[in-house]
Amino acid sequence: MKRSYQQSSSSASLGPPKSKYRHNPDGDAFLEDESTKNFAKKVAEHYSARTNQTLEEREASPIIHLKKLNNWIKSVLIQLYAKRGDSVLDLACGKGGDLIKWDKAKIGYYVGIDIADGSIEDCRTRYNGDADHHQRRKKFSFPARLLSGDCFEVRLDRALADDAPFDLCSCQFAMHYSWSTEARARRALANVSSLLRPGGIFIGTMPDANVIVKKLRAADGLVFGNSVFWIQFDDDFSEKKFKSSSPFGIKYKFHLEDAVDCPEWIVPFNIFKSLAEEVPFHQMNGSEVNLSRTEQIQEETKARCT
Ligand SMILES: C[S@@+](CC[C@H](N)C(=O)[O-])C[C@H]1O[C@@H](n2cnc3c(N)ncnc32)[C@H](O)[C@@H]1O
Repeated sequence: MKRSYQQSSSSASLGPPKSKYRHNPDGDAFLEDESTKNFAKKVAEHYSARTNQTLEEREASPIIHLKKLNNWIKSVLIQLYAKRGDSVLDLACGKGGDLIKWDKAKIGYYVGIDIADGSIEDCRTRYNGDADHHQRRKKFSFPARLLSGDCFEVRLDRALADDAPFDLCSCQFAMHYSWSTEARARRALANVSSLLRPGGIFIGTMPDANVIVKKLRAADGLVFGNSVFWIQFDDDFSEKKFKSSSPFGIKYKFHLEDAVDCPEWIVPFNIFKSLAEEVPFHQMNGSEVNLSRTEQIQEETKARCT
């Protein structure tokens, strides 16, 4: 049975009226104002412009160990939760760097969506068997559909009506791009919930807001980092105080050598969990898998759809 969006007659919220936070309008309407749209565009342009690396370039990257760690985290999650024959939705799939991981898990069907057209093109090339960054040729055993689009802006249940429901939805290193506004954060979660089958699983990875805020407070100014990354907040956050009543739109600029240079948003994990509880997720457990590393801690979440 396919899950559908929850409808509410008055506020059109996505769940029972118990939220402490304002509800966004539901429906097909675009959620974005001009500035949010511009930020989403910036993110898309940044990732689109990044070209696939050769094996030599990859190995010479100053963040090769971080890349390997991130890949290991994703491999663990995929091996833990994907089952043979699963139908998988990969939100913000990027250039298809996880295709081999999904293949190893012997999934049955894959839909990948990303806002960056260039990344979707690279993903398609990789899927079609052109050499990947390991310069290997690969044929994948599962059929796939690849689309470009903003996963956090519009309802995806209609666009993916023929593909849903999915057994597993994955959003790796990307959910935080939905926290520019409450409406987008809610849309992201509602998309996940509406596309998963009952009992389906969501896995995701994003930066740990606590670590970022702690480092910001320890810094002299509004910038901190090291030789391979920096994070910069603007003057709006000069007091380094963040109200739990305004948990959305807490933007910082993230630079990661050889990888990222664009705006990102803080995701307070407790609020992420409260929001997720309002869409029909049965279980949301932030401590299920919890891995740390020197400069950045990722918090993995697993949720099961009722
Ligand atoms: C750090 S990359 C991760 C890519 C991939 N999930 C992985 O783990 O290799 C973040 C990805 O999120 C995508 N992204 C950002 N905002 C998005 C949005 N609103 N809708 C869809 N994709 C988005 C970017 O284009 C980029 O490919």
